Order: sequence, then structure tokens, then C-alpha cells
Amino acid sequence: MRKKLIVANWKMNKSVEESLEFLSGIEQNLSGLKYDLVICPPFISLFAMKAKADKLKISLGAQNCFYENSGAYTGEVSPHALADLGARYVILGHSERRNYFHENGKVINKKILKALENNLKVILCVGEDALQRHERTEIEFVINQLKECLHSVNSEDILRITIAYEPVWAIGTGKIVSSKEAQEMASKIKDFISQSYGNFLSSKISILYGGSVSKENYKEFLSLSCIDGILIGGASLDLKNFIDIITH
Ligand code: 13P
Repeated sequence: MRKKLIVANWKMNKSVEESLEFLSGIEQNLSGLKYDLVICPPFISLFAMKAKADKLKISLGAQNCFYENSGAYTGEVSPHALADLGARYVILGHSERRNYFHENGKVINKKILKALENNLKVILCVGEDALQRHERTEIEFVINQLKECLHSVNSEDILRITIAYEPVWAIGTGKIVSSKEAQEMASKIKDFISQSYGNFLSSKISILYGGSVSKENYKEFLSLSCIDGILIGGASLDLKNFIDIITH
């Protein structure tokens, strides 16, 4: 059985020094990992963290990348350069990118294709906001996000994408979906992948849950057979909290 995946999205938090201190803290508290672990720090910490992360068998991921490898794109970060420095994953389609930086499905799709071309694994975030949940249109909404974002992703590449279901209303709010709601969404996502890529690939694709995951509730999500891991924001920033989650 494959290990479940725990992904820490640090968002715009921690300096390089703090990122390194955090890894040293993990090193002192870790004896064998039950989970596959990915940490996505700010870009500026990736290079400095690489050697120790390798030693601890923790993969590093970026929180975003551009859809070209090089060129006159001031302030953007190249997926080629990320892969070259040893990042294995990149988070794309996060609701904070969609909302604050106006990234739409087309842009996210271009980023996904370029990231895959550079052998990065993609953590694709999808999720409805409170209004859609209220109107009971969340499934249609999420499937539509998947259609847009996965446009022309082929069968050879689909398993290099992990789908993170992150309802926007649950991010940083302390609210979470019920197990039943998480299961329902995961099964609809699998149905969509099955229709687009066949049953075999659908059975292999990983689905994460994200949104207010904490040391109080993470076990509930990790125990669901249809959920292959968790994507943690706030609760991954505090060393003690994070160690509690990854060691139990
Ligand atoms: P929180 O865990 O802080 O709700 O953030 C979730 C998230 O956005 C992870 O990508």
C-alpha cells in the first residue's frame, strides 16, 4: 500500500533562516516517516533547504511557477529552474493565486503543461467557495475547474498530477468539510478522471484534502480510504504542531 502524502504549504511565511531552523527541528524529532512528506516553502528558501531535505527524505515543492522556462517576464519563476535546483513538486491553481492574482483556468492549464514538461509533479488545487456550497453546485464547479486545468494533459502525465480538494471557505477559517462531503467530492473527481482517462488511471490518481487541517482533525481525513493525503497551511508553520501530525 502506498504511503499517504502530507504536504505543507507555508505560503508567504518564514525567512530562509527560519526555514532551515524548522528542518533542523524536524531532524531532531524524526525517527522514520510513516508518510511521504513534501514541504513547499517560499521560493527563496528552496535552494538553502535542499541538502537537508534530501537527507531527511523530504521532497521540496514550489508554491507556483510561470508557464515559460525563460524570457522577459520580470518577477516570474521558471519551472525549468525550479526542477534544476531540485524541487520535485509545484502547487498550481491555489485559490489564493486564483483570487489575488486573477489566475484563471487557461493560465493554470499553461502552467501545468510547462511544469509537467519539466518533470515537476503538480499539486493541482480545486475547490468551491461558500456560495457554490450554499447553492449545492460545488461538484459541477470543481469538475469544471478540472476540465479547464487538465485540458490536453495526456494519459502518460496524468498520474504526475495530485489533485488537492481545498474548499475555499475552509481555508484558514477553522471550518472543514465533513467526511461524507470529502468522500462525495473525491468520488466525483475520480468519476471525472475515469471518464477522461479510464478506470485504471482513475484508481491510481491521488486526491488530497486541504482547508483548516489541524492536529485535532487530520486523523479523520487520513483515515478516509478515498483521501490519499492532506495539504496543510497554517498548522504546518508551527514545528510542534507539524511534528505531532507527521509522527502519529
Ligand atoms: P489552512 O490549512 O491554513 O486552512 O490552509 C490550507 C491551504 O490553503 C493549503 O494550501
